[in-house]
Amino acid sequence: MIANSVSTLSVDALVFDAYGTLFDVQSVATLAERLFSGQGAALSQLWRSKQLEYTWLQSLMLSPMQRREDFAAITAHALDFSAEALHLPLTAAARHRLLDAYLDLSPYPDVATVLVTLAPMPRLVLSNGTREMLELLAATTGLASHLDAVLSVDAAGVYKPSPRVYQLAVDHLKLLPPRIGFVSSNGWDAVGAKAFGLTVIWVNRAGAPLERHGPKPDAIIGSLAELPALVGRA
Ligand code: LAC
Repeated sequence: MIANSVSTLSVDALVFDAYGTLFDVQSVATLAERLFSGQGAALSQLWRSKQLEYTWLQSLMLSPMQRREDFAAITAHALDFSAEALHLPLTAAARHRLLDAYLDLSPYPDVATVLVTLAPMPRLVLSNGTREMLELLAATTGLASHLDAVLSVDAAGVYKPSPRVYQLAVDHLKLLPPRIGFVSSNGWDAVGAKAFGLTVIWVNRAGAPLERHGPKPDAIIGSLAELPALVGRA
């Protein structure tokens, strides 16, 4: 669905969010359920929301006295909080396995085909993840060969949805913001990118309501398979 009446979006490059957009984080929930029967969903949901909350809080708290932790450290601290909040006995081995699961995610089934179809349009990743986490995922899933660059927020020293993060894509591509299509399944990330001025496609796989704190995305799709037609590359 496109917000205005045109049938395709005119962009010169596509920039993708990583976690939940290209890479399915469901395997983390499956492992959590195996380790803590009956509590896996609660743990993985609280963990993900604490992980994001910590990125936002640390971005607000930045000062010469207060350094930002990277996404690997934030992910570990969010897990520790969540396990304690749910009274789950998190052994060192279980902690290690859950954190490792974040480094071994599968892409959604349609990702590789979609990235191939979109070529030769530049295709990038822009994510909260560290360069190390993202490059490992891109390499182990085989997506690296379909991506032109992997950008980490670490180069901006702050997390999404700071405009400084979306500026990394502009600086890398040397395009005006509206010529860059930004693709995210995270509604708040879509709002942040649109507020910055990118052309935004929200991948709403779960049929979630629109976020209300900022501008609406330019288009909403139910899966990545709809993306090539939307940008005139089908
Ligand atoms: C990322 C988070 C927001 O990849 O999913 O940046």
